[in-house]
Amino acid sequence: MSKMIQTPTEKREATEDVGRNAADNPTMGDIINRRYSRRGFLQGTLATSAIAVTVSPLALMAADEAHAQEKASAFSFEEIAAGSDENHRVAPGYNANILLRWGDPVLADAPEFDPKNQTPAAQEKQFGYNNDYVGFIPLDGSDDRGLLVVNHEYTNPELMFPGAAVERDDEIVIDEWTKDMVDIEMAAHGGTIIEIQKGADGSWSPVRDGEMNRRISVNTPMEISGPAAGHPRLQTSADETGRKVFGTLNNCAGGVTPWGTYLMAEENTHGYFLGELPADHKEAANYERMGVPGGWYNWGKFHDRFDLSKEPNEPNRFGWIVEVDPMDPNAIPKKRTALGRYKHEGCETIRNKDGRAVSYSGDDERFDYVYKFVTSGTIDDDNRQANMDLLDEGTLHVARFDEDGTVEWMPLVHGEGPLTSENGFESQADVLVETRRAADLLGATKMDRPEDVQPNTETGKVYVMLTNNTKREEGDTNPANPRADNAFGHIIEITETDGDFASTKSTWEILLKCGDPSIAEVGATFSPATSENGWFGMPDNAAVDADGRLWVSTDGNSEEKTGRTDGLWAVGTEGEDRATSKLFFRCPVGAEMCGPVFTPNGETLFLAVQHPGDAGLATFEKPATRWPDFSDDLPVRPSVVVITKQDGGKIGV
Ligand code: FEO
Ligand code: CA
Ligand code: CA
Repeated sequence: MSKMIQTPTEKREATEDVGRNAADNPTMGDIINRRYSRRGFLQGTLATSAIAVTVSPLALMAADEAHAQEKASAFSFEEIAAGSDENHRVAPGYNANILLRWGDPVLADAPEFDPKNQTPAAQEKQFGYNNDYVGFIPLDGSDDRGLLVVNHEYTNPELMFPGAAVERDDEIVIDEWTKDMVDIEMAAHGGTIIEIQKGADGSWSPVRDGEMNRRISVNTPMEISGPAAGHPRLQTSADETGRKVFGTLNNCAGGVTPWGTYLMAEENTHGYFLGELPADHKEAANYERMGVPGGWYNWGKFHDRFDLSKEPNEPNRFGWIVEVDPMDPNAIPKKRTALGRYKHEGCETIRNKDGRAVSYSGDDERFDYVYKFVTSGTIDDDNRQANMDLLDEGTLHVARFDEDGTVEWMPLVHGEGPLTSENGFESQADVLVETRRAADLLGATKMDRPEDVQPNTETGKVYVMLTNNTKREEGDTNPANPRADNAFGHIIEITETDGDFASTKSTWEILLKCGDPSIAEVGATFSPATSENGWFGMPDNAAVDADGRLWVSTDGNSEEKTGRTDGLWAVGTEGEDRATSKLFFRCPVGAEMCGPVFTPNGETLFLAVQHPGDAGLATFEKPATRWPDFSDDLPVRPSVVVITKQDGGKIGV
């Protein structure tokens, strides 16, 4: 069997845009290429170094100014230089250590990682691939011991299987696929729940025999719950009830609920299906809107459920939010259909002041939408078990960002407005299975790829990461997405009315338009206090720390696009500090930065370094040399990095 592959990352990018087919406007690409040609970038780096070693009255004056700016900043760490190499870098005075890597044992009886002799059974017990979302759930209220919950979004087979990939005609090709390789990929997806603790020396480590340690994969039995559970559109030959499904796919970001459950967002689930629907199948329009089949993987050649011609309803069983009780390793994960089916980037959930839970999620595709779900019931703080099905009942809303600076959160409720049988919605289950089409009919605002949507419970603000959209043309812009050919993305700040996160009418403004502020055509709006290292493009995930400050991680920066790798930036949101950004951590080349999360006391930060080495042939000459180096000092396996201050105390100050 032969399969021609781009990297999964390239495939993901190529098929993100389902609804449109407009050609890229080359203008921004030309501008960027001129600026970040390799030669230009190196010259820029050398020039910076030269200034750094020159002591002159001018430099001293600049230092005084920098000090004044620092005092106004919410962040007082020393910024690092932007750039690109095979190592990760963190601000001076901090430790950045690898806590977990792909293949590390998770279950007590897991074998040690042996990448040249990997098996599906071993992978089911070991840390999965491409860690994305990271959540920390304290045990016994401790900041020094807890459960780390980690999503494994997708696999890079060309990096996982030594010697399997070859370069041919500028493509990376795997000629020989075996069922074992597919089954290893399936076992490397999903999530990890693992106990971790901080030792007396201040360093963190996994607890090998933690009683709650668990791997979740594409093979884990799950239940489908909520309004769409059991609906005929979710029934298959293997599951006539429409209520049972094996596994979860493409878990990008996620969330931890106020009652301590782990939410895994299913994002690009279309990519796992191949084959053709039977002629005139009733799901054809639904699948077209979701990009099914994406054909990214070979799984359907070995497992019928990923082949549309054999199991046409299977794609309707993915694209949901999965809730897992991490305290019980035998708990059956549940797909909460009330939260809708689309390409969920994440699912950040907070306790509203009236006790209801509110979950925010972006639909990560060009021209798709921002959603929030408000539960009907309230959180019971005294009885954790009473909250376990809270996410099965409530109202899903989609956002319309109006020109007057208000957001209308429009309910997606069967029978209301256009969501009726005349438009093919016979029940709430239909509305949820085709959430995107329902939101289309309500006139939601088409956004520039909504990623993480991060609420700040202290301030009533909500930050929406919009990563980029180069397919938006002049004339296609709207006030909330004001740039055509938006190569670098932007961040919107929503203010929920009176701090009520359940509000259906809020206000919004743009916090930041991203990109290099020194290139006028880019139109970036970082504050003037932001240094040449401090700006970024392609915001993806975000976290709010113990003091309510915003941190943003990125996906898509590279030497060619921005002269820097992805990383984690601290972003001021208040007063003079607003829109001032500082670089705190940067990834090794080829990697994307995910999962920023802090312990409640703000003293430990966990980061996910995803797909290091996935940098194309320019960086790694041949697929063979792209095979990860397993030495401890090169973080080239997807890994979770733990960051603490060398002298102790809160991160960033
Ligand atoms: Fe998996 Fe939206 O990135
Ligand atoms: Ca993401
Ligand atoms: Ca987040």
